[in-house]
Amino acid sequence: MARKITVNMYMTLDGFGVFAKYPGSDIEEDEPDDFWKEMWISRYDSVDTIIFGRRSYEGHAQVHALANRKKTDKEYLYDYSRFLERCKLIVLSNTLQKTTWGNSKIEKGDIGDLVERLKKEPGKDIIVEGGPSLAHDFIQRRLADDYKMLVMPVIYGKGPHYWGTMDDQETLRLISVKKMTHGELILHYASVR
Ligand SMILES: NC(=O)c1ccc[n+]([C@@H]2O[C@H](COP(=O)([O-])OP(=O)(O)OC[C@H]3O[C@@H](n4cnc5c(N)ncnc54)[C@H](OP(=O)(O)O)[C@@H]3O)[C@@H](O)[C@H]2O)c1
Repeated sequence: MARKITVNMYMTLDGFGVFAKYPGSDIEEDEPDDFWKEMWISRYDSVDTIIFGRRSYEGHAQVHALANRKKTDKEYLYDYSRFLERCKLIVLSNTLQKTTWGNSKIEKGDIGDLVERLKKEPGKDIIVEGGPSLAHDFIQRRLADDYKMLVMPVIYGKGPHYWGTMDDQETLRLISVKKMTHGELILHYASVR
């Protein structure tokens, strides 16, 4: 079977890609919650490639590189860093000259061509980890096999946005909905082709 491409999205109810503050959002659980389990931990064995836009890549490297983990970070965050550093990290950029984190590779150009090439290469599944503008390109070009969305209980009104105009509609099949403790939803949809 071809490698599956999942787009991970983290958004407010109105579709903005920000980690908004709301009651409970700053509580760091000792154990991974449904967000961590659904978006990441359940995928550790089946995913070996992550695609980032340049800004998200730089943000992730700063926080999630194993070398940058804080002593106070929970064990599941260390596991997440180890997972990322086992994966091939593809960073899309026309400006970045070199990478300094993990098994990273800079790519530029048409994402349709990139997806076609990756799907032909042997390997496990692929996650597109944002940011919103890159996720939007994948949605608009209908390149994803499925979508995992964390929807935060906030109407935010500004910032990078996930949604936009489409040439053709993307029809989705709902796979699961999880309601989290502080009012977030985790939605999993597959694309209908
Ligand atoms: N998962 C996440 O990381 C996540 C989730 C939610 C919100 N956010 C927030 O969203 C913001 C970043 O998202 P963003 O949408 O602004 O940026 P982004 O998608 O992370 O990065 C955009 C950059 O990616 C490069 N790029 C994208 N497509 C390309 C292509 N086809 N070819 C070559 N380069 C390409 C360009 O880099 P160059 O300028 O180098 O050419 C472009 O400026 C951050 O503030 C972050 O906090 C992130």
